[in-house]
Amino acid sequence: MKYKIEKNTVQETLIIPLYARKVCSELYPNLYRDETTVRLIDEINYDFSEAEKKSRSLMQRFGSLEVAMRQNDLAFEVRDYLKSHPNAAVVNLGCGLDCTGRTCDNGSCKIYNLDFPDVITVRNELLPAGEREKNIPCDLNDTAWFSEIDASGGAVFFASGVFYYFLTEQVKTLVRAMADAFPGGVLVFDAANRTAVKMIAKTWLKSAQIKDVGAYFAVSDAPQEIGAWDSRLRVSSRGYMLGYTDLKDPSVSGFFRFLARVGDGMMKMQIVKIRFGGKQ
Ligand SMILES: C[S@@+](CC[C@H](N)C(=O)[O-])C[C@H]1O[C@@H](n2cnc3c(N)ncnc32)[C@H](O)[C@@H]1O
Repeated sequence: MKYKIEKNTVQETLIIPLYARKVCSELYPNLYRDETTVRLIDEINYDFSEAEKKSRSLMQRFGSLEVAMRQNDLAFEVRDYLKSHPNAAVVNLGCGLDCTGRTCDNGSCKIYNLDFPDVITVRNELLPAGEREKNIPCDLNDTAWFSEIDASGGAVFFASGVFYYFLTEQVKTLVRAMADAFPGGVLVFDAANRTAVKMIAKTWLKSAQIKDVGAYFAVSDAPQEIGAWDSRLRVSSRGYMLGYTDLKDPSVSGFFRFLARVGDGMMKMQIVKIRFGGKQ
């Protein structure tokens, strides 16, 4: 039996990073490996033929590297938080079929994977929750899910490729509500400036033939713009491609390193980290 992802919904966007992680595992195994993704691609009822055709083009290869690097960056931040909070809740917001929570499992944290109910139904079949793990069907914009998270040992939240599909007001409301509910917690996510977000809609959604889904939330100077939302937010950011690694692996060309500089610099592709309360 194959599991179906509905066409032309924001849920369908999970296919883009899923496929990119497979491509990156094949092209840049020194930098990123994700065996689970490779297996999942075969188990989903989705037509990957277009994606496959385009997957070796220059821009798609670079895009795959971007997706894999942001996953590494977010995993770095989760592990970093777990060093001081070994029993924390590790919460994957808009998880799709990503397993970063498990990748970061330290044996004592609690892992939560949150997404819309139809995605969680597929996830429950393909990636049933393990020990200390919970898959939670929800709309992230309805804070009812807060009560399901045991943050008694701290909480680190991450959202990978998710907030682009939110309006700025929605991200702001959610972040402020999280600051109320999870003092001492941390939220990390990827973001980019308006030019880059327009490109996501034009290039990525279009080439994946996903209709009726828009990309909206953009940020340029995260500490300043997001910091102004609420005095309890301690905001920092690092380049998404080069903020955590120098990409000096021989498998990455000089041209791709140049594109990475352009992405981090001109497009403001970044990993934003928000601490709820406490010192900067
Ligand atoms: C581009 S995919 C990223 C999936 C995953 N984070 C990854 O990196 O593979 C965006 C995901 O966010 C989920 N999503 C978007 N808006 C959401 C909302 N309001 N509530 C719950 N999930 C949402 C979608 O269903 C989709 O699975």
